[in-house]
Formats: sequence, structure tokens, C-alpha cells
Amino acid sequence: MSAKIRVAVAGVGSCASALIQGVEFYSRNTDKTYGLMYPEIGGYKPADIDFVVGFDIDARKVAHSLQEAIYANPNCNMQVVDPETKFRCITPEATVFRGPTLDGIAPHMRHLNPDITFVEDDQQPVISPDEYKKILKEFKVDILLNYMPVGSEEAARWYIENAVEAGIHIVNCMPTYISTEDARVLEAKAVKNRVTVVGSDMRSSYGASRLSEVLQGSMMDSGLVVTQHIQMNMAAGTTQGQEHIINGRSANTDFLNMAEKNRLHNKHISKENVLSGQSIVRGVGTEGTTMFAGPSLTVVQRPGGVYMGTDNKVCNIDIVAYGYAGARYELTARLSVQDSPNSGGIVVDAIRFCKVAQEMDIIGYLRGPSAWSQKTPPVHMTTADAKFECDAMARRVYTPMTEKQKASVLYPAGGAQPNLELLEYTFQKAKTEYE
Ligand SMILES: NC(=O)c1ccc[n+]([C@@H]2O[C@H](COP(=O)([O-])OP(=O)(O)OC[C@H]3O[C@@H](n4cnc5c(N)ncnc54)[C@H](O)[C@@H]3O)[C@@H](O)[C@H]2O)c1
Repeated sequence: MSAKIRVAVAGVGSCASALIQGVEFYSRNTDKTYGLMYPEIGGYKPADIDFVVGFDIDARKVAHSLQEAIYANPNCNMQVVDPETKFRCITPEATVFRGPTLDGIAPHMRHLNPDITFVEDDQQPVISPDEYKKILKEFKVDILLNYMPVGSEEAARWYIENAVEAGIHIVNCMPTYISTEDARVLEAKAVKNRVTVVGSDMRSSYGASRLSEVLQGSMMDSGLVVTQHIQMNMAAGTTQGQEHIINGRSANTDFLNMAEKNRLHNKHISKENVLSGQSIVRGVGTEGTTMFAGPSLTVVQRPGGVYMGTDNKVCNIDIVAYGYAGARYELTARLSVQDSPNSGGIVVDAIRFCKVAQEMDIIGYLRGPSAWSQKTPPVHMTTADAKFECDAMARRVYTPMTEKQKASVLYPAGGAQPNLELLEYTFQKAKTEYE
């Protein structure tokens, strides 16, 4: 086990802010473990993570210290650490570099009130791919977190593929590389550069995806046939500490970005992969069923009032199933959560799994941690199987799945060509039936 895990963040938005504040919180309160699925992974605690550099395009974040950037507008996640506190988990030299904008800002986002949307920086020079790779090396980055807005396909590929080429491990928090075809291409690159990937499209510790998976999975394991599963998500409710805002309430930028349908194509597919994945792993067909996951209902605030992003999300789930001798079941659930901290609880694990896998000589997609923490992993698993794989890796124990992904096995007899045939995939299409 080496000293610290050094992390770079592409997209210093609300999720990055919630993650970093959470790591600081657990580093300062070592007696507290609530909210952590794994207080230790292979010996690493949250306090063993350092955030060393950031990349963004927003004028309020670029060229600022990473600590200042996580508190800048339009970030709206709850504050758990006083901004004046000197962070232990952010290195003193950690600044935010100006990355290329590419498709990072959707046209409709440019017309919203600046307090709740992105403001593109026009002062700092944009870094080139070579400069980016040089920065990753100079800052001794182990792992890159991709936190681009949904729909930023080009930007995500720019950050991820250049980082892989620089030998950096990846946690891909957004829905890119969704189809099996795309995942294979990324994994071949990762194996070539001997790095690990956790992806794609992070879930929350306890969010809509986990709830849908567990409800549907438990019904199927009880012999029921699930004929309808509708999961609807919306930006609604109040984030703690904002109850006083009476006139004015806006969604966070993640939801505002997805208010335009063309931005959320992949998110839709990815959310539905969670539902169909539970049928696939049990060998049950989905023909004739209704399985729909609505990514984001965003009702935009009428002009006027206070403009402040609100990080709350509500999920409504409705399931119809049939059981013994055709008896009917109906299940309705509602979950209201704070969106960004909920995702922090997942990423704090994904980072440590990447590092431990590297130390175990495992390369490519981490299939267990991806199935546990992401909506579209390369291989779908039941909740229990995904947890089993994570528990094993957290104890540095190999499983038949991870044995196959040791570098020494993928590169037989030290050969130059990896045996990619050993890598398993659950076939995933890149489309939804509901468009
Ligand atoms: N619980 C969750 O909130 C959750 C769950 C699953 C997935 N995700 C996904 O994680 C990603 C990040 O979510 P978020 O809530 O932090 O979003 P956000 O909108 O708060 O942050 C996005 C950040 O990316 C920056 N950015 C935009 N284009 C860029 C570019 N080209 N280069 C560098 N930076 C750029 C923005 O300025 C902003 O700081 C989204 O894709 C989201 O869908 C979030």
C-alpha cells in the first residue's frame, strides 16, 4: 500500500464538491463511518485520498485554487465543511486548469441566469492534449474522475482517452461508452496502457438505480414476473439549509443541462440498463414488459425571485408484478435525496478500488466495482454478486473474474499482445425503445 491516492477532477461541479467535502469530513472525523459503504478498501480509508488538480471551463473556477472552485457558483451541493477551513485532502498547489469546452456547454444553458448556469471563461489559455498529459504527470495523478455534464461526449472522450494514454486510471461518472462496442474500444486502450476503469455513469449510494435494482431483483428472486417497472426522476424538493428561499427555486446544473432532450439520450439508455440488467442476469426475457426510466423532469423556474440551484431529487417508482397462480402485486415507492453527496459515497469507493486493483496487478474495467457503482457496467450482476466481488477486492482477494484480468494473465508469457478474448461483456445496445 503506497502513501496517498492522488486524484484529478475534470468538471469541478456539485458532485466533485460533495465528494471532496465528504473526504475532508471523514478525514477530520475518523470515528464517523455513516454514509460509507466501505470504511476501508484494501487498507485505504477516505483520508488516504488527495485531490491534486482540477480542470474546468467556468470563469469562477478556472485559475482558482481547487478549494475555492468547489464552493463557486453554480455549485449548489450542501456545505459540510466551512469554506475558510484549510483542507487536508486538497494539496496546497492544486489549481483548476482551463480545459477545452468542446460540447461541454449546451446552447440552452448559455441563456439562464449566471447564478445557476455555466459561465465560460475567456481569459485563460486552453490547454492542449500534450499540456494536459504533462500536467497529469507533473501533479503525479493516479486517477482521473470524469464529471462532464451529460451529453458532453466529445469533452468526455478528450479527458478520458488522453488520460488513459498518459497511464492514468479512470472513474467515468457520466454516461459515455454506453454500448458494448464503445466499452470494448476503451477497455482495449486501458489494457494496452495497463490502467483500470470504473464506469460508466455512476449511481448514487442509495438512489433511484439501487432502489429499482433491489426492488425488481427481490421480486424476481421471489418467483414473481415483473411486467411493468416505471422509474420517474425529477428535480424537486429542498436541499437542507435552503428552506428559507420562498420565491425562487431552480434545479441543479445536472438537471438543467438535461432539460433539453438531445442532451440526455445516453442517460436514458443508461438508466434503463439498470432495469433490463436485472432481467438479463436472471436469464429472463423482457419481451412484452414495460421498463422505463425517465432521466430527469426539470421544471424551469419562472423569471424572477432568487436564483439558486437546489440539489434535491425525487424518484417515484411504480412496479406491477404477478406471482403465485397469477396473483397481482403493485408496488409504489418514493425516494427524496440530496443528489450530489449521494454520488460522493460511490466515488469515494471507486477511487480506492482503482488503486487497490492496480496494486493487485488487475487491469481493464473493474467488473465487480463497476456493476456495484455504475448504471452501465461492462457486465451486469445481481446486487449480491456485485457486492461479493467488491467485498473480495476490498480484502485483496482474487475471484475467478479478477484472476482473468491480472496483467500477467492478459499478457500470456509476457507477450506484447493482450488476450482480450478473456474479457466478458453483457451485451448492451446503445438505444432505448422509448424515443
Ligand atoms: N448524483 C448525481 O448527481 C449524479 C449521479 C450520476 C451521474 N452524475 C453525473 O455526473 C456528472 C457531473 O454531475 P454534477 O452534478 O457535478 O454536474 P455539474 O453540472 O454540477 O458539474 C459539471 C462541471 O463540468 C464543468 N464543465 C463543463 N464543460 C466542461 C469541459 N469541457 N471541461 C471541463 N469542465 C467542464 C462545468 O463548469 C461544471 O463545473 C454529470 O454527467 C451527471 O449526470 C451525477
